[in-house]
Amino acid sequence: MPDKRILEMKGIEIQFPGVKALDKVDFDLIAGEVHALLGENGAGKSTLIKCLTGVHHMDAGKIIYDGKEITPTSPQAAINMGISTVFQEINLCQNLTVAENIFVGRLPMKRRHRIDWKGINNRASELLKRFNIHIDVTRPLDYFSTGIQQMVSIARAVDIKAKILILDEPTSSLDENEVERLFDVVRELKKSGMGIIFITHFLDQAFVISDRLTVLRNGRLVGDFYARNISKIELVRQMIGKDMEQIFALKRPTVAADATNMLDVESLGIASKVADVSFTLKTGELIGFAGLLGSGRTETAEMIFGVTRAEHGTIKIHDREVRIHSPLDAINQQMAFCPEDRKRDGIIGDLSVRENISLVVQSRRGIFNPMSIKEQAELADQYIQLLGIATPDAEKKVGELSGGNQQKVILARWMATQPDLLILDEPTRGIDVGAKAEIQRLMLKMCAEGVSVIFISSELDEILRCANRVIVMRDRCKAGELPGESSRQEDILHVIAEGTATGEEA
Ligand SMILES: Nc1ncnc2c1ncn2[C@@H]1O[C@H](COP(=O)(O)OP(=O)(O)OP(=O)(O)O)[C@@H](O)[C@H]1O
Ligand SMILES: [Mg+2]
Repeated sequence: MPDKRILEMKGIEIQFPGVKALDKVDFDLIAGEVHALLGENGAGKSTLIKCLTGVHHMDAGKIIYDGKEITPTSPQAAINMGISTVFQEINLCQNLTVAENIFVGRLPMKRRHRIDWKGINNRASELLKRFNIHIDVTRPLDYFSTGIQQMVSIARAVDIKAKILILDEPTSSLDENEVERLFDVVRELKKSGMGIIFITHFLDQAFVISDRLTVLRNGRLVGDFYARNISKIELVRQMIGKDMEQIFALKRPTVAADATNMLDVESLGIASKVADVSFTLKTGELIGFAGLLGSGRTETAEMIFGVTRAEHGTIKIHDREVRIHSPLDAINQQMAFCPEDRKRDGIIGDLSVRENISLVVQSRRGIFNPMSIKEQAELADQYIQLLGIATPDAEKKVGELSGGNQQKVILARWMATQPDLLILDEPTRGIDVGAKAEIQRLMLKMCAEGVSVIFISSELDEILRCANRVIVMRDRCKAGELPGESSRQEDILHVIAEGTATGEEA
């Protein structure tokens, strides 16, 4: 049977103020295939999807869907046609129940216009069971993890019998098991003939699940490739126009033998969250925190930074005990913390790039010492350059930047405070390979200048590339500490899985 092309986008163009976000882009999708859409931050991936789903109106181009030319005018119109999206930001209603979320906008009625609650709850349960998810669908959505929430979003798409399912960075906040589960579902959907568009910055994942890969760069199509015909290295070259070895030529910090202790954490803990974590961090040293989501990595960082208050234990800075009861205390101790959930804890979409970057520097200077617009602009321009933030200028609203570039703005905000201790929680999530290397390089440069860095990441290769030491968290405890230089990914995985280093007795 010949391949059935269910979607053909031809010559798509769209101009935003100051950026040609898409320039004559072609894209097509075959029934039953997973087609990855790849490219650097700001390449135009989300915009292409938004043209297809009627969020943006394209300036030129044609969309042929199921043999007919269409002009989607709204996301709802696209959904009605069978084109369903799970967005980068989850677009469900947190306070509705799981079942309501699956059926919102199309609740089945019984006689006399009464909603058939029992019916929808049963149907929602059944639907999720198909994906091997056994949960109470009458609980509000925000009771569940992001992974489950995403599955709910997909279940909704399946139930409306979508022909095309679009996943825009669905795995960026999932742990490994959740990713596996998502992929199992995707494989099922593929078999049923659904066409799936998968946007991701995890290239390994793109290779595992995709049949084809399309690469965009600066709003232009670079090409489409069969996954089986292209290597990862070649793919990176296509995405950023440079070799992987070249961009990842990094050297971990050199910590002087007589380096002083920057941070000394002893038996820090909160009964329900983290048990007795102890470690030291030297001036200019970089330690990596590895472990699964929920293993206590973020919770430890939050205690150190005063986001949550430790119930016991001590924190010493330069060998002096300090009390940190709030982030402001931590900021006054020259600490900076770039949180994991930047959507929730950081981005102010309606403010400009300049204002977002200057925010913490300004608050540290106090209200009686305001930064002039010129100072703010200089600071912003410096970091736009340094991090390669793709924006026409510093006055653009952050909400209008691509997802990855929004993250870079938050990173810039904290780097700009010139801290002594910088805590980065998953700083490279959602960030493209080139920028990832850039951020790693910047961390290492800061270490060379005497900054100490705590680097939390789920990507073991990047931890091993940069860290002097690796602390492995497991079940809310520190399970081990490994040297960065001589350890391998398997060594870390072993501690994550077993709680002990290879060869050690449990
Ligand atoms: N609503 C908007 N208004 C103005 N410019 C926009 C808007 N949405 C996106 N852009 C710009 O269009 C370009 C493409 O952005 P897009 O979000 O498609 O990138 P992306 O490939 O999805 O990147 P990421 O990997 O960071 O999510 C960027 O330069 C972005 O700043
Ligand atoms: Mg995007």
